[in-house]
Amino acid sequence: MKYLSVLGREPAISLAELEALFLNVRQIAPNLATFESDIAPGIDRLGGCLKIAEKLEASPLDYLRNIPSGKITLGVSDYSGHASRKNASLEALKLKKILVRHGRSVRVVENKNATLSTATSLHNGLSGKNPHKIELVKVQNSWFRVIGVQNIDAYARRDQARPARDAKVGMLPPKLAQILINLCGPLPAGSRILDPFCGTGVVLQEALLMGYTAYGTDLSERMVEYSEKNLKWLDKGNYTVEQGDATSFHWQPPIDAVACEGYLGRPMSTVPPEIKLKTEKQECSAIILGFLKNLSGQIRPGTPVVVAAPAWLRENGVYSRLEILDEIEHMGYNVSNKTREGLLYHRESQIVARDIIILRKN
Ligand SMILES: C[S@@+](CC[C@H](N)C(=O)[O-])C[C@H]1O[C@@H](n2cnc3c(N)ncnc32)[C@H](O)[C@@H]1O
Repeated sequence: MKYLSVLGREPAISLAELEALFLNVRQIAPNLATFESDIAPGIDRLGGCLKIAEKLEASPLDYLRNIPSGKITLGVSDYSGHASRKNASLEALKLKKILVRHGRSVRVVENKNATLSTATSLHNGLSGKNPHKIELVKVQNSWFRVIGVQNIDAYARRDQARPARDAKVGMLPPKLAQILINLCGPLPAGSRILDPFCGTGVVLQEALLMGYTAYGTDLSERMVEYSEKNLKWLDKGNYTVEQGDATSFHWQPPIDAVACEGYLGRPMSTVPPEIKLKTEKQECSAIILGFLKNLSGQIRPGTPVVVAAPAWLRENGVYSRLEILDEIEHMGYNVSNKTREGLLYHRESQIVARDIIILRKN
């Protein structure tokens, strides 16, 4: 089955997430990709997708006419590059007119733009769960039906409701934690995911919600307590949390995949001078390389390892990354995104970005 994804605000990262999980992923516009999957992809576990839509085999009209009796709520988004609000509204009204002529009752969701925002889709119930509330998506001459919309409210709820939060380390957005896990590739249910820098446990939490087993360790006793508190509150699945230095700890097997936000250095609110950047880079490189060296002898060949490393904003607006990829390769890992410019995740003007490194043990 062919699907369309509306990519999140970091399209390169969203695309990498899809490529890790699905077949024939093709970017067809800056914010759109198509892909194939035998099973319907669940948007609730794809942090990088804003909407997922399934390709319509029939014409949009035939599709709508086959909806069981009852009032239809219809939204139309036109993602074709040139499309305007008017294009999308006209398509919706044209469909409504014919359906009404056939005796159907239809409400059209008003377009403020060519495409409905995720908030509008969600709040009008167009998330694919109700067979009478439909969002159709047009891209050039192809039509799709939305089967999932990113639930911004659910992400915010589980980010903010956790009992133990820490402004310095606990800012990993749950959707980025999902992306880090998904970049490990398809994993059987129940796989054991290790986060050796678990902090307040966001990766562990998302792993449990995705049906995996979670194993977290952290150097800081306080962070171990925070993770334990948060996972107890979540009350889902099997997990283990232990105190340990990632550069020397001996983890209990099995480890099926490793997904983590590594040590990112000191929080910063202004662009650091060169000398400060140098010491930060040295410290972060030593911890991340020390961890990967220690891990290397403890995981099976083929085990995926995804690490978010720090990168720092410079005065010229470019992020300066850790130069550690050659050394990582020498430790016996394959770096799958070495040739790319980097998968950088950051808010606008954020000083410390997360640079996602995707590895596999040789
Ligand atoms: C950026 S935070 C990770 C936050 C985490 N993703 C969360 O959900 O809260 C990095 C973590 O690495 C831990 N850390 C720093 N050096 C470490 C080391 N050598 N071994 C293990 N953990 C370490 C810190 O205590 C901190 O909790």
